[in-house]
Amino acid sequence: MIQRLAVIGDPVGHSLSPQIHMTWIDAQKRNASYESIRVPKGEADRALQDFARKEFRGLNVTLPHKEAILETVSDRSPAVEAIGAANTLTRNPDGSWRADNTDAPGLMCALERVGVSSVDGKTVLVLGAGGAARAALYALDGGGADLIVLNRTVEKAGMVIEACCDRDHRFGPLEDIDRHAAKADFIVNTTSAGHAGEHFVLPDGNGRLFFEMSYGAPGKAQIAHAKAQGWEVEDGLGMLVCQAAESFRIWFDCDLPDIEMALEACRETLKLHE
Ligand code: ATR
Repeated sequence: MIQRLAVIGDPVGHSLSPQIHMTWIDAQKRNASYESIRVPKGEADRALQDFARKEFRGLNVTLPHKEAILETVSDRSPAVEAIGAANTLTRNPDGSWRADNTDAPGLMCALERVGVSSVDGKTVLVLGAGGAARAALYALDGGGADLIVLNRTVEKAGMVIEACCDRDHRFGPLEDIDRHAAKADFIVNTTSAGHAGEHFVLPDGNGRLFFEMSYGAPGKAQIAHAKAQGWEVEDGLGMLVCQAAESFRIWFDCDLPDIEMALEACRETLKLHE
């Protein structure tokens, strides 16, 4: 029987997930399909029942359901509990759903791709304290990093550390960026400032890593500035593909699929839209 997979969200038409997963499904000659399905806000519960009846194998969950889905799915991984959001659902034999969050392992896999094989003992400056930051903090704290979280709304930085980390970490306002960026081993930008056409001014990078979670147009100005300041820059496309690979691994109970192959396909698609 064909294994049906899909990404659900609203909007969902722009998602690169179908292309990523179909690259692997085709390469591995699997009898599977991956669709993008628009599920409006408030309709995830009904939609999950429908997808279970239709015997979908798994779902990726994107905005606006990543957090709200927890009201519907009670079988959750520890990462989902700590991060407070899920991006991967797998149908259990009884028709219920299991929730995972592959953003955290996706970040670690993306860091490894660019030479950061361990974050243990590293000082990492994390910009932002929203949804994307939660998965990053959970992953980096779990990996043994010492974190400094800077956010426009300072209290939120303290709250996400409390919620997503086992250990204590420093936090403060974005105005302190210069001081902390000068000393950090690397920076992870989780903010959506790029969507507002803004970017953060950085000191000299001297070849250190600036990991920008955005990709495509929103990340452009920040990436250009970081490069000009001598940072080694990685955009969020690698993480997007890595988190997808973790989902694929869960659904098919297999090794991680070929990251570089899917990444290449995505870069080609984004070029077409430039
Ligand atoms: P996401 O799920 O993409 O993380 P989010 O939960 O809305 O989206 O979080 C956006 C993050 O980007 C927040 O940390 C936000 O700061 P606040 O918590 O103060 O809102 C940050 N952010 C968004 N626009 C920003 C801007 N123009 N300058 C600085 N930080 C910004």
